[in-house]
Amino acid sequence: MSSNRELVGVILAGGSGSRLHPCTKVTNKHLLPIGDMPMIFYPIKKLVGAGITDIMIVTGTEHMGDFISLLGSGKDFGCRLTYRVQDEAGGIAQALALCERFVNGDPMCVILGDNIFQESISSMTTTFMDDLQNAYILLKEVPDAERFGVAELANGVITNIIEKPSTSPSNYAVTGIYCYPPDVFDIIRNCRPSSRGELEITDVNNAFIKAGRLRYTSLNEYWSDAGTFPSLAKANELVRTQPVEF
Ligand code: G1P
Repeated sequence: MSSNRELVGVILAGGSGSRLHPCTKVTNKHLLPIGDMPMIFYPIKKLVGAGITDIMIVTGTEHMGDFISLLGSGKDFGCRLTYRVQDEAGGIAQALALCERFVNGDPMCVILGDNIFQESISSMTTTFMDDLQNAYILLKEVPDAERFGVAELANGVITNIIEKPSTSPSNYAVTGIYCYPPDVFDIIRNCRPSSRGELEITDVNNAFIKAGRLRYTSLNEYWSDAGTFPSLAKANELVRTQPVEF
């Protein structure tokens, strides 16, 4: 099914950046440099590159002013930016829930602001918009999958996702790049906080799996998060040597 509803973008850029202290003591992780741009430029340009022009950025109270000073209305990127405050660190799914009024029944593409990756998201968003019944996630084969949400696969279907398992069931990390139909907000309402007191995006994705409604594609080119010193350095090196496609 396709519809005339517009695909909107959500960038989740909260968190205390504790694994990057003291560099994140007086600023937000997503304002640190990757290559020759602040980290937050990358997800914005990825969304705009896929034709998405209405984008909400969610971050905490402490550095929201810096985001607005840096990014303004979004005019320089060719998009309209809307900002939403996440008061406390309640998890990725809780941050997404704050976007319900903004999304207003449209399908959405969600990117975690510290995900740096080479290829365009256009093929995923096009496939999603031709479907709209199912949620889509991007997987990436990595050597250290246990640092992430990890997908269990059987005959080309995702059967389960385990958040940061002690032993990985596969090498497929769930990246922070997701497309959701608007009923994702109903699913979040049915989620309960995890043992660390947060609403986990992995629980949301597992609910789509249970309903037989989670599809995936894999990234072929590089992907890295940038939330630790080694991964921040790696993301910088990747971007320097192999330019990102927007
Ligand atoms: C989050 C998600 C995890 C995902 C990762 C991708 O983890 O919980 O499932 O694999 O982003 O970057 P975090 O980086 O917040 O620990």
